[in-house]
Amino acid sequence: MHPTLNIAIKAARRAGQIINRASLDIDKLKVSVKQQSDFVTEVDRAAETAIIEVLREAYPNYGILAEESGLAGTPADSEFQWIIDPLDGTTNFIHGLPQYAISIGLAKNGVMTQGVVYDPNRNELFTASKGGGAFLNEKRIRVASRTRLDEALIGTGFPYRGFEHVDAYLAIFKDMAQKTAGMRRPGAAALDLAWVACGRMDGFWELGLSPWDIAAGSLLITESGGIVGDFAGESDYMKTGNVVGGNPKIFSQLLQIIAPHRTATLQA
Ligand code: IPD
Ligand code: CA
Ligand code: CA
Repeated sequence: MHPTLNIAIKAARRAGQIINRASLDIDKLKVSVKQQSDFVTEVDRAAETAIIEVLREAYPNYGILAEESGLAGTPADSEFQWIIDPLDGTTNFIHGLPQYAISIGLAKNGVMTQGVVYDPNRNELFTASKGGGAFLNEKRIRVASRTRLDEALIGTGFPYRGFEHVDAYLAIFKDMAQKTAGMRRPGAAALDLAWVACGRMDGFWELGLSPWDIAAGSLLITESGGIVGDFAGESDYMKTGNVVGGNPKIFSQLLQIIAPHRTATLQA
């Protein structure tokens, strides 16, 4: 295993301990609102601090992009950059709904090379290294092999703030719901991508995500035989935040459903 992946795992597990401990006492959580429907707790911050501490100790010169502390004082242009979501699924966490995860990715010159998504509720550790495959608790994982959309279970994320694309979203949803076996909105994008990587869902799409939601999970999918793209099927999803993923056949069928609904503002 690559040493950077080992360190990312150590950091994710450390954050998992903090989150698990806090989940026993969610009534005491202090919640602040960043913007409409965008919450942060002291647990997000404590988990992020712990992650950054572990990563920095091992790799002091690597850049960092983390949800709660931004670039964390590191240069934006370093060759290596950790991309961190300390608690993906904060709204679930606040409600005691056990569907959230820690996501840590490492990019080299903008290309994802290592990824960890850790689900502290199920103690499930998803890992991937570029060219080395993807694993769930050290067992090799593959995307689902289903090719028919009418048999496919598709994950998504509903818009919940800044509703400028809600009509396009609902139009895509309406088409997709009628062509697939079912739609799910579990509520933690990084974990959604991990679940596509291990075949629990056949595909996933969401718009307006942030790089820390996608970084590790996208590598999990590509390393488990799937494809990830933006709404045009291109690789710009870390910039636009619009993501589609699945095995190659499902991926292209999802893109076909999305294509007619791409508006002037929702190009990719
Ligand atoms: C959110 C979750 C959610 C997705 C949102 C994300 P957070 O992350 O991944 O599933 O729909 O777009 O912002 O804020 O809980 O880290
Ligand atoms: Ca997130
Ligand atoms: Ca988060």
